[in-house]
Amino acid sequence: MKFIKESFKYPMKKIHLIAAARPNFMKIAPLYHELVQRKGIDPVIVHTGQHYDLNMSDVFFKDFDLPEPHIHLNVGSGTHAEQTGHVMMAYEKVLMEEKPDLVVVVGDVNSTIAATLAAVKLGIKTAHLEAGLRSFDRTMPEEINRIVTDSIADFLWTPSVDGDENLIKAGIAKEKVTCVGNIMIDSLEMLRSKIENLNISGSFGLSRGSYGLVTLHRPSNVDTPEILEKLCTALSAISLKIPLIFPVHPRTLAQLKETGLESILQMANDIHLTDPLGYKDFMNLVMGSRLLITDSGGVQEETTYLGIPCLTLRSNTERPITITQGTNLLCSHENISRRVDHVLEGTFSKGRKPALWDGHTASRVADCIQRVLSRESG
Ligand code: UD1
Ligand code: UDP
Repeated sequence: MKFIKESFKYPMKKIHLIAAARPNFMKIAPLYHELVQRKGIDPVIVHTGQHYDLNMSDVFFKDFDLPEPHIHLNVGSGTHAEQTGHVMMAYEKVLMEEKPDLVVVVGDVNSTIAATLAAVKLGIKTAHLEAGLRSFDRTMPEEINRIVTDSIADFLWTPSVDGDENLIKAGIAKEKVTCVGNIMIDSLEMLRSKIENLNISGSFGLSRGSYGLVTLHRPSNVDTPEILEKLCTALSAISLKIPLIFPVHPRTLAQLKETGLESILQMANDIHLTDPLGYKDFMNLVMGSRLLITDSGGVQEETTYLGIPCLTLRSNTERPITITQGTNLLCSHENISRRVDHVLEGTFSKGRKPALWDGHTASRVADCIQRVLSRESG
């Protein structure tokens, strides 16, 4: 465990921002930068170490101009219970020593639930940013993390009103819930000009608008060889219609190698396999792509905001607003090729931007934090 925060600042109110895995870093970045501007607030980045590869963690600190994590728990990978337990044990020690004024957790990963459990049990006020999302599919590990985190956290900050509705229906007190908007849009707007200056598709020999971009990492898609094989075969068929760029998540790479299914993708007509990409490089590819094929939560939101067709290889989504208002469509390995045809024929809904997906969520969250702190000290 590593602590690197100067203690001279410490009459300030200490806010722990919990960052653990790839989708967390871009959620805490705009908030960190907003909070350092606010008087009397000392944001402390706590990295649990759930993701640790350079391209799954460090690259995001660089892209978003974040300082090195002030506290690093170094928990690494493990089973669900191992990972959750290790974060709880390590973070509890930190909490007892540091006594933060507020803990902010984001998203729905194992570290989100673990940090929340550790903090709430010590009576430390805890807020969940991206609260209220529900897939209503309890086979998803993230759904369990969302339900438990939302039921015990003190403050619930939602990205869209469907989140508020889910929480109220679950019996959560209205006073705990605030719709703050989608912090992922702040991340994108923060780096938009730098992203637009890149030409990452060029390094694959592809021009803007001429390719599809693929990401896959959900256990329901990649952990069962029979399902993974069907998906690889579908992607191979799609690559006859449009070139595909596929930055491969480490979970997926391990499965592709273990099953030998990597060869289907390697032998396909036009699939460019690559390592996971940094945020700026990835978003440059997103912005230039004709369509996305994904099972990522964040990508469903980014494509809705940008008006790019998103074919989501899942039977449900915790982000239904990306379907009702945005450009998202749920697909299976059986119908995805036809859905790609629809996009290429130009018969795909353009969608619109959901309310409060406006790049000002970090500011609204910082206002909430200041209200919480003044209430606690008053
Ligand atoms: C986790 C989150 C998931 C999120 C995803 C984002 C949970 C339950 N899952 O899934 O919600 O959508 O992150 O990417 O919290 N690995 C590496 N290097 C790394 C990290 C992981 O090689 O830096 C490999 C390890 O073999 C590890 C496996 O990937 O066992 C899975 O990592 P883990 O964090 O447990 O789950 P993800 O599938 O990444
Ligand atoms: N992302 C990235 N590089 C990649 C793939 C994804 O920077 O190679 C970004 C992208 O902005 C996406 C975010 O990481 O929205 C979330 O990642 P992921 O899909 O791993 O997690 P999820 O949102 O499904 O939990």
